[in-house]
Amino acid sequence: MNYIGSKLSLLPFLDEVFREVTDGSEKVFCDLFAGTGAVGRHFKGRGLQIIANDLQYYAYALNKAYIQINETPDFAWLRAHFKEAEAEPLAFINQLPGVSGFITKNYSPVGGRQYYTEENAQKADAIRQAIATWRESGLITEQEYFYVLCSLLEAIDQVANTASVYGAYLKKFKASAIRPLRLRPLELRNHVPNCRVFHRDANELITEIECDVLYLDPPYNHRQYGANYHVLETIAAYDDPKLKGITGLREYPKSSYCRQNAAREAMQQLICQARAKHILVSYNDEGVMSLQDIQEMLSLRGKPKLFQTNYNRFKADNGREYKRNATIEYVHYVRVVKAAAAS
Ligand SMILES: C[S@@+](CC[C@H](N)C(=O)[O-])C[C@H]1O[C@@H](n2cnc3c(N)ncnc32)[C@H](O)[C@@H]1O
Repeated sequence: MNYIGSKLSLLPFLDEVFREVTDGSEKVFCDLFAGTGAVGRHFKGRGLQIIANDLQYYAYALNKAYIQINETPDFAWLRAHFKEAEAEPLAFINQLPGVSGFITKNYSPVGGRQYYTEENAQKADAIRQAIATWRESGLITEQEYFYVLCSLLEAIDQVANTASVYGAYLKKFKASAIRPLRLRPLELRNHVPNCRVFHRDANELITEIECDVLYLDPPYNHRQYGANYHVLETIAAYDDPKLKGITGLREYPKSSYCRQNAAREAMQQLICQARAKHILVSYNDEGVMSLQDIQEMLSLRGKPKLFQTNYNRFKADNGREYKRNATIEYVHYVRVVKAAAAS
């Protein structure tokens, strides 16, 4: 998924830093602002037990699948009850006849918005409703439910009629948005039992968990993920929200990390309360907090270090010009030697 702040292309750099600062004894890795789950997946691939968390429900759903599921679920009930599902359950799900539900009525031309074609929106409604019904009736397992939901979120994002994020839709359907929605099997990593996934505010969860490596990748600027990905949030939660305005924005949780003063306070509290041996923070030089802010906060727990690499900027809008095409990406690090503050 093309996601603001995704660390997918920074994984080699993160891995290099990780290898340099750790000694191989680490078992539990916490990705507290997990987004697409790219970082947790990578370190799960290295055999670490992952704790993943995000404030947004779509990110929770992606991580529930990529982090907690170790092998493609069996879909025993679907196979037993539908001949077409016997060989390939996802192929059967892809063929469900479309229905007109919340997605069609609000995000397709039927409801006056053009995030998706009517056909794709109807297909998404059919799949979303089917897995909800099957899950409520106990016909599919929790893992099967999140496997399909994750595949749906990945697939629907591929056919979204937007420049990139969901702040607006395009007036004319672009070529990729006209392609039919198709769920694909997920690429799952190593078999690592007991990975955990949460849908919580990072500052609440931090008081309840313990890990060897704590990785922090909070939002850098004022752009709230809840606003930029509101359509994915609604498809994931399917909770019939009230939508406002031309773009159909829903209410969304506001992150402290998107506001300068609140971000400093939240970050310092997080770092001070963390029960971890190593803390790694991804934060660049254009965020609401400065590099010095982060280094000072980390110095409350030990001697901070700074690693850096060049990185291509996320392009949110193809037509817009940016001052710089590349930015320096930093990983701040501290080996924790001072005790955590009481919560
Ligand atoms: C920079 S992105 C993380 C990207 C992720 N590392 C990846 O590779 O996809 C920041 C994430 O933090 C989440 N977030 C923002 N505020 C949060 C909070 N207070 N608690 C938990 N998650 C939060 C956002 O929803 C977003 O997914």
